[in-house]
Amino acid sequence: MITLGIDIGGTGVKGAPVDTDKGVLLEERYRVLTPQPATPGAIAECVAEIVEHFSWTERIGCGVPAVVKGGIVMTAANIDHAWIGCDAKSLLEKRTGCKVNLINDADAAGLAEMRYGAGQGHYGVVLMITLGTGIGTALFTNGELLPNTELGHIEIRGKDAEKRASEAAKIRKDLSWEEWADRLNEYFSHIEALLWPDLIIIGGGASKHYERFAPLLTVNAQITRARLLNEAGIVGAALAGLHHPEPPDKKS
Ligand code: BGC
Repeated sequence: MITLGIDIGGTGVKGAPVDTDKGVLLEERYRVLTPQPATPGAIAECVAEIVEHFSWTERIGCGVPAVVKGGIVMTAANIDHAWIGCDAKSLLEKRTGCKVNLINDADAAGLAEMRYGAGQGHYGVVLMITLGTGIGTALFTNGELLPNTELGHIEIRGKDAEKRASEAAKIRKDLSWEEWADRLNEYFSHIEALLWPDLIIIGGGASKHYERFAPLLTVNAQITRARLLNEAGIVGAALAGLHHPEPPDKKS
């Protein structure tokens, strides 16, 4: 099957047709800079540009950095607040003329890693963590996703965890790798106390520098780097375009 996967991010909106049997991009990804403010209407234009670039008319899967339920965006930690309550599925379907499924961006990356990457064959409790502008999480057991876990927002030292330990926090506070690893260890120890994952897959922008900080981590779980790197979001979104279940009242 071939589906168009689109990953909506804070700096870029990227997409490519994906062979969902093999988990590979069939053409070079097309990237549009995320407009500011990144309102739903402005992002819909970026999605339409990608759709037009590939002359796409079939199904689309779209990853968004927010909780999404039945096509409605529920949260907006790192995106424009106008997204909250937005029926993004209808908006994008109307603008593109294609059938669209939406999924949380970390869930998309996790689906891709479980199927084609670092999570292949792992049937225990697997937690994919994306370290980037925010902290995204995707939780799997027996290979099944529990959607919309927002474990980047647990409270640590009275603060939202992603504000202390995301890649953006490292850059903003000019933390050394050691200082950042201390914060990550504190974050992971809270997560481990709650969930006891067997495997933690680290993805997101920071996974490019995995060698710099992974040796400093002291987690109990097995830990590994995401394999699909910056393609995971697109590949996983495409998978969601095919498989993400919708509530019965939303089925057409
Ligand atoms: C959002 C998540 C998202 C993550 C990574 C967080 O701020 O709440 O929904 O998955 O950032 O983009």
